[in-house]
Amino acid sequence: MSKEKIIAAYEEMAEAYNKLIEHKPHNAYYDRPNTLALMPDVQGKSVLDAACGPGKYAEILLSRGGRVTGFDISPKMIALAKNRNKGQGTFFVHDLSVPFEMFKKESFDVILCALALHYVQDWTVTIEEFSRVLKPQGILVISIEHPFFEYTYFHSRKYFEIEPVKGIWKGFGNPIEVHSYRRPLSDCLLPLTNHGFYIDKLVEPLPTEEFKQSDPKHYKELNEFPVFMCIRAVKKAEIR
Ligand SMILES: C[S@@+](CC[C@H](N)C(=O)[O-])C[C@H]1O[C@@H](n2cnc3c(N)ncnc32)[C@H](O)[C@@H]1O
Repeated sequence: MSKEKIIAAYEEMAEAYNKLIEHKPHNAYYDRPNTLALMPDVQGKSVLDAACGPGKYAEILLSRGGRVTGFDISPKMIALAKNRNKGQGTFFVHDLSVPFEMFKKESFDVILCALALHYVQDWTVTIEEFSRVLKPQGILVISIEHPFFEYTYFHSRKYFEIEPVKGIWKGFGNPIEVHSYRRPLSDCLLPLTNHGFYIDKLVEPLPTEEFKQSDPKHYKELNEFPVFMCIRAVKKAEIR
């Protein structure tokens, strides 16, 4: 049920999202710089952009010489990603929570999954698939909503549960209801360590100086409490 609502929300806001994330402070000056700082050199590397949205990250990774494949559950987002990247990269519709049957095992050097895993209730299939399609010692970089932010923002009283939550987003055109799943910190980390990854870096990001120029109020708030969390995980050479 939530999945249909999540798709509907992104279909509705796709155009606005595509235009606004170019300079929207939480994307351009908070998530992207901190997440990209965890990415390795992608020159000549095969990169999967899972839940690629309108292909902004893919555009950056293509400009850095990566061979990028992206998928997203929203057909409009995929159309925008193709349009933005003008024949470069490969983009198609697929659901993060369904096995990636189109990919052979060990086909990617790097996987990026930015601001999307909180739309998936059970991460098991997704992380198993990330592990299967990554080469040994391949790198997975994710950004998610910070579990402590979600716990307070959604007024949870059940820290240890994975709960469906919803918020009203006003920053992408008409107010829109966005459904997602909040989870405790352990449920952000254990799916990785239980499926063949070790955690190499965990960042509670800070906003950049450009953020301060464009939105001083939220700049101050983000210096006091994190909204996102970024992780770099490495697939173990040998999975025991
Ligand atoms: C906040 S946007 C992030 C897009 C892109 N990664 C970025 O950071 O610019 C979240 C994206 O996740 C996608 N999404 C949500 N649930 C998904 C799922 N189950 N499988 C694949 N994509 C999904 C949405 O369609 C949307 O494009």
